[in-house]
Amino acid sequence: MALYSEKVMDHFRNPRNVGIIEDADGVGEVGNAKCGDIMKIYLKINNDIIEDVKFETFGCGSAIASSSMATELIKGKPVSEALQLTNKAVAEALDGLPVHKLHCSVLAEEAIKKALQDYYERNGIDYDKEALAPCDCCS
Ligand code: FES
Repeated sequence: MALYSEKVMDHFRNPRNVGIIEDADGVGEVGNAKCGDIMKIYLKINNDIIEDVKFETFGCGSAIASSSMATELIKGKPVSEALQLTNKAVAEALDGLPVHKLHCSVLAEEAIKKALQDYYERNGIDYDKEALAPCDCCS
């Protein structure tokens, strides 16, 4: 069996939503200390809907595929739904990741949470700090 699913290869080779949003409403950057990969997510939010999302990822193929899939999963969705996005959902949408690459999908979840946190803070919106706390499962 191939190590990577066709979906992972597709999102790695043709990543969706790559780039930056100059006037983003929320920006989140995270890194993994072990592998050194970095991911940055930009959100454009209007009326509580994620109108646009872009990412820049300096990292492995799984991190690029995870960012691409994660942005697809939250684009056009309400903020409350984006908040629920888990790394598990990202990995499942990619038809799975090898166990030693699961942390790449965690990076995507954390970058989105950080961007949402930035959005809340810029707008003085109260938020559940626990729900947005970074996970420590792979650091
Ligand atoms: Fe670290 Fe993929 S190897 S994000």
